[in-house]
Amino acid sequence: MHATTSPPTVRPAAASAGRVPFWAYTDPAVYQQELDKLFYGPHWSYVGLEVEIPNVGDYKLSWVGERQVILVRDRVMPKDRATDHGIRVVENRCAHRGVRFCQEPHGNARSFVCPYHQWTYKLNGDLAGLPFKDGVKVVTETGPCTHGGMPPDFDLKANGLTKLRVEVLHGLVFATFSDAAEPLRAYLGPQILPWLDRIFQGSNGSRPLTLLGYNRQRIPGNWKLMLENIKDPYHPGLLHTWFVTFGLWRADQKSRMVMDEHGRHAVMLSRRNDGGQGPARDSGVQTDVTQGVTSFKANMALHDPRLLDVQPEPWWTVDDPQNPGQRITPTVTMITLFPSLIVQQQVNSLSTRHIQPRGNGSFDFVWTHFGFADDTPEMTERRLRQANLFGPAGFVSADDGEVIEFSQDGFAQWNSDGMAQGSTLCELGGKDPGLGQPPTEHMVTETLIRGMYAYWQKAMGL
Ligand code: FES
Ligand SMILES: [Fe+2]
Repeated sequence: MHATTSPPTVRPAAASAGRVPFWAYTDPAVYQQELDKLFYGPHWSYVGLEVEIPNVGDYKLSWVGERQVILVRDRVMPKDRATDHGIRVVENRCAHRGVRFCQEPHGNARSFVCPYHQWTYKLNGDLAGLPFKDGVKVVTETGPCTHGGMPPDFDLKANGLTKLRVEVLHGLVFATFSDAAEPLRAYLGPQILPWLDRIFQGSNGSRPLTLLGYNRQRIPGNWKLMLENIKDPYHPGLLHTWFVTFGLWRADQKSRMVMDEHGRHAVMLSRRNDGGQGPARDSGVQTDVTQGVTSFKANMALHDPRLLDVQPEPWWTVDDPQNPGQRITPTVTMITLFPSLIVQQQVNSLSTRHIQPRGNGSFDFVWTHFGFADDTPEMTERRLRQANLFGPAGFVSADDGEVIEFSQDGFAQWNSDGMAQGSTLCELGGKDPGLGQPPTEHMVTETLIRGMYAYWQKAMGL
């Protein structure tokens, strides 16, 4: 935690999930509780993709909240391979004097050696050995003797790195510090899992992935704002010129808002239409969706039309979990997995987006773009071209980074006289969080945001 100012003594109660008090974003004490209860509590945090560490000894640094961890592939005996995926996640903090010993963002190692006093750890985090454990033997005038060393009861086994629980789902690696977190599939829930399966599960099990590249950015806003942004289907058709004009996401499209029973995870589904001014061909609904929307630019055209060279893929069409016997073909699925992951399919572009909080008013946002191992070179090119919409300088996502910063700036104004003075309003489509109710079949709603804050309040005990 970076901020040190005292929390305000007067707070309004959070009146409903549809009114989020500004202190939820600005109070350093609330942020510290979020780290403890959410990120280090009984929740699963995404740490990376299995494909990022293909070989034994491959590792990459990642984060759970503000604790840096190492995602590493361990050796596994052939007899154990059916039951042990070999993926370990250990905290990057030496058991001796607390040094963050691993400094390379990724690499390959036989073991981890802390530079300070060379304590050496196995890939699974066990302490393998340390210099001078049994002291130094010297010969003095009175004969041989031993200087120093660890006490006789020093136990290597009791002095390893902090090991996190790890679960891998379709190549997505999740970790938790908590023994109380339920198994990952139960944590994600039956409403969300089909939409992860749709992307990651092929006919013969999980689809092998390929790593296409990274973007990263620091956004000066509270970490929850990023989840809100991707649970907010109302803004893309207004804020994003690109989406409105080229029809990737607009209020006249078929869409659905799904959340898990707790309100913490969500999926926004949509099916693109052809853009332009007229009635959306796919939706069949006459609409004035572009009228008065200042972000719609009728004359805007692409210099390179390949940017929207969308190629439908067979896996887009699945049995509709909501309507048995029917098929459904979303072109966009935006999946938010509380507290720190977004999985994005925007037509042919696929990415994970990892939220890494950095104080109550800032977070790092890391995009990992991926494809499938059986993609043709043309499809890989297409996925990469379409990824230009996203990331810190993307034609769409740059807008989100800015409004998140502007939001945090606005919230900061409330505390000028030390009194609680306001809240955000998320009542589009109702005031109820909508827990346990069927999905909303349109995008003119803030129901997913209400769901998340209902869960947040409960998990935080506020
Ligand atoms: S602090 Fe790591 S070996 Fe001493
Ligand atoms: Fe957006």
